[in-house]
Amino acid sequence: MKIFVTGGAGYIGGTVSGLLTEKGHQAVVYDNLSHGRRDLLPPGVEFIQGEVADRTAIEEIFKAAKAQGKPFDGVIHFAALIEAGESMIHPEEFFRNNTASTLSLLEAILAHGPRRLVFSSTAAVYGEPEVVPIKEDARLLPTNAYGESKLLVEHMLGWMNRIHGLRSASLRYFNVAGAPEGPSGITRGEAHNPESHLIPLVLDVALGRRKSIKIFGDYPTPDGTCIRDYIHVSDLADAHLLALNALEDASESASRLIFNLGNGKGFSVQEVIESARRVTGHPIPADLCPRRPGDPAVLVASSEKAIRELGWKPRYTQLDEIVRTAWVWHQKRYA
Ligand SMILES: NC(=O)c1ccc[n+]([C@@H]2O[C@H](COP(=O)([O-])OP(=O)(O)OC[C@H]3O[C@@H](n4cnc5c(N)ncnc54)[C@H](O)[C@@H]3O)[C@@H](O)[C@H]2O)c1
Repeated sequence: MKIFVTGGAGYIGGTVSGLLTEKGHQAVVYDNLSHGRRDLLPPGVEFIQGEVADRTAIEEIFKAAKAQGKPFDGVIHFAALIEAGESMIHPEEFFRNNTASTLSLLEAILAHGPRRLVFSSTAAVYGEPEVVPIKEDARLLPTNAYGESKLLVEHMLGWMNRIHGLRSASLRYFNVAGAPEGPSGITRGEAHNPESHLIPLVLDVALGRRKSIKIFGDYPTPDGTCIRDYIHVSDLADAHLLALNALEDASESASRLIFNLGNGKGFSVQEVIESARRVTGHPIPADLCPRRPGDPAVLVASSEKAIRELGWKPRYTQLDEIVRTAWVWHQKRYA
């Protein structure tokens, strides 16, 4: 397969591009490098610097590929702004970059692109869950503008499917973590700037880059800290290839797919810190802080649908394993 990967210079897009290449496919990464890093692109991946909002540029890329007799077989759309907290300060940037830009991409796809798209959605489309674990048919009520910017794209994909037959899969990721173990070991991983995700922040303490980690409490959970679902980035990457294959099935029912992707197990913030203490051997001091408004106590996915319908088999089910791979990468990143 030849796949157009928007946002492929980022954490997850880079991991998926690496997996595509390892499996003998061709990944063409399209990224504006606003948050990505060209030096972290896996070997063998073609890179084009560009904006998702630039419909003309993307159409030209699709047309040129066709003219060379090597058209694209699919698109995986990762490019987005990802910081939920920031989206509550500048929502307009999220609606422009994540929603309006995606409409330009969809127009380019409809004009000259492949009819298969995998979209990076998020658990944030659910907001505060009524039932845990969360299934795909749960109520969709985002509590931040980031989640809403992604939900609007999901709605657009539904209409493009009904009216234009665009086949798409929305993959709703929970908390993505860890680093991919490739043929040459661990060479890439999470490199967000600024970083807002728990595991790299905790590992920053172990590396001496930060004095302590803040724990927000107290929530109605066994140890008073929030419970989240951590999915290893390589397990997540596998699901993208399975989703692309599933979209090849010509049946009507396989033309608009939605899957949750999580570990199915929740781990509390306290458990993540304890895991990092075991993995790094560092005491990782923590400061207790008051509860943050708008943080749901428990967010855990039911990924049964992906396991049943895609044949997805997550390999990293133990938190220590996820943290171990993240720790190897974190030390390399700041060496
Ligand atoms: N990391 C997580 O835990 C998580 C959880 C749920 C969903 N997601 C989704 O997964 C996707 C990838 O996340 P990530 O963690 O790899 O983030 P990332 O910031 O590492 O990667 C995003 C990439 O998109 C690029 N980009 C952003 N806007 C662009 C634009 N307008 N045009 C071209 N390129 C653009 C950035 O330069 C960056 O390389 C995002 O869509 C995010 O919303 C991530």
